[in-house]
Amino acid sequence: MNRITRTVLTRLAPKIVPRRPLSVSVPKLHGDFEWEDPKSPEDIVNVVYQDRDGIEHKIAGKVGDNLMFLAHRHDIDIEGACEAALACCTCHVYVETEDKHWDLLEEPTEDEEDMLDMAPYLQENSRLGCQITLSKDLEGLIVRLPSATRNFWVDGAKPEHH
Ligand code: FES
Repeated sequence: MNRITRTVLTRLAPKIVPRRPLSVSVPKLHGDFEWEDPKSPEDIVNVVYQDRDGIEHKIAGKVGDNLMFLAHRHDIDIEGACEAALACCTCHVYVETEDKHWDLLEEPTEDEEDMLDMAPYLQENSRLGCQITLSKDLEGLIVRLPSATRNFWVDGAKPEHH
């Protein structure tokens, strides 16, 4: 997409055209990085995912992991329909260790807030999982999956990641 087309589309439909340049292709954004094991014990960031049945999945992630792609690696049902392009809300999670970790998370961008506004069962501790990057400070992070996301609601299908 050339610059003029992008400018026109952005003006006509600012919510449809992603603001991240389409030419950016960082493996980390595609989830490849999350398939690598931590290189050392200092690199490990332990995270707990509570699934829709209330079952806890204790996962050893690493510094720099994207919370959603890490979940994909471990077959946890976070959909992530737009693959972290900030164009859906299917990676919605609740940060259960709000008191400990909330202030350590980067502030949600306006785009994230817009997408969160479309998420069913929005709460004060809602975030988009694809916008959380693990750091050592987030050791012990607990996130819970909402009982439904918009796509699950529509077709009830379970996602298959590629
Ligand atoms: S996967 Fe679509 S916004 Fe996170």
